[in-house]
Amino acid sequence: MADWHGFYKLSWRERLDKTIENKQLTAEQVALIEAQYDAVGEQQVENYLYNFGVPTGLLPGLPVDGRLVTVPMSTEEPSVIAAASNGARMMRAGEGVKTTIQSRLLRGQVILTDVANVDALQEYVSSNNQALLQAANDAHPSMAKRGGGAKALTVEVLDEQTAIVNVLVDPKAAMGANVVNTMSEAVAEKLTIAGYQVLMAILSNYATEALVKARVAIPVDALATKQGMPGAEVARKIAVASHVEQLSPYRAVTSNKGLLNGIEATVLASGNDTRAVNAALHAYAANNGQYHGLTSWTVQDDMLLGETTLPLMLGVVGGSIGIVPAVKLNHALMDNPTVNELTSIVAAVGLAQNLSALRALVTTGIQAGHMALQAKSLALQVGATTEEVPALTARLQQIGQFNETVARETLATLRHSK
Ligand code: MEV
Repeated sequence: MADWHGFYKLSWRERLDKTIENKQLTAEQVALIEAQYDAVGEQQVENYLYNFGVPTGLLPGLPVDGRLVTVPMSTEEPSVIAAASNGARMMRAGEGVKTTIQSRLLRGQVILTDVANVDALQEYVSSNNQALLQAANDAHPSMAKRGGGAKALTVEVLDEQTAIVNVLVDPKAAMGANVVNTMSEAVAEKLTIAGYQVLMAILSNYATEALVKARVAIPVDALATKQGMPGAEVARKIAVASHVEQLSPYRAVTSNKGLLNGIEATVLASGNDTRAVNAALHAYAANNGQYHGLTSWTVQDDMLLGETTLPLMLGVVGGSIGIVPAVKLNHALMDNPTVNELTSIVAAVGLAQNLSALRALVTTGIQAGHMALQAKSLALQVGATTEEVPALTARLQQIGQFNETVARETLATLRHSK
């Protein structure tokens, strides 16, 4: 049995030595770990070994609220950035994406059990509203100074003995997890002193008080395919596909996964929490009791109209954002957006991604574009050198078959014919 005892107490070098010993790492594997060592990364996580890189590319010219934005996207999936760029291209044929953000509050939940009288709790919270909000704000005074902080409290009764005191917080430019947790714990302490039984105090990632609405109108002509399908026909089919997503949860999950291809890649590159966004989006997709697609596409006259409303709580300060140089670089590439601008960008990337996927699905099918891009990964997988990759991918596209056997044989033939 390998001995990992006290691993977390070791220095990075000692941890690496222990890993080499326990896992019999090869010299090549050790060299990879050493090359990917990052001093900032070491400060970020426990038991740090190395930084696992994610390819990052640019989506240029995304039209959002009257500007063309450059968006860094981090993803391992070959077709994602290409598809988003294609979606942005079609969107540029119209006036681009327009967004509105109605509110930007994050919710903390102070969960109470064994409540003797829920009416008395409601009464207590309403008559002590100011004192409880003050306790929350005193726990993080700088937030209130900047015009943010705890803004409202509500009581939600779950059953006759269980209730939640919601703390609604404006975290300004931050995503707010830390500030909301701190403030919720401060409210929890007050409620404990008042005799209530607190089970836990924690933010909710279901950010329904931070909804962004993104809309786009695209002239149907911009959707026509090279293979000859007229734009009006493509638009009509996209609208039908959108309708199907409202009816079939199986189709909706896949479509929302596509939307998240763009959203997660952008959220990750921006140094925000992808899991929080993911969880909120899926919950919102089931907000009416049945899981549905998060976008809607309809045709009006000669325009394809797209719309999405998403719970998106992001930050431009805090967390890894001020610490990781690559994240700072990514913000600079986006011209250092405000938090609302970043939210609008992310929603617009989602719409562009979804548009591109639906257009491909209802016209050529997804495999045509995917396989062309995946040919590169396949070439590397079968051992092509970076010099051999272009010739092999071109040849695989001519053959039209994308599997390991064909790729291996084709590579052998290419090498033989040199
Ligand atoms: C693939 O990563 C994403 C798609 O499946 C999305 C969709 O089906 O809408 C193409």
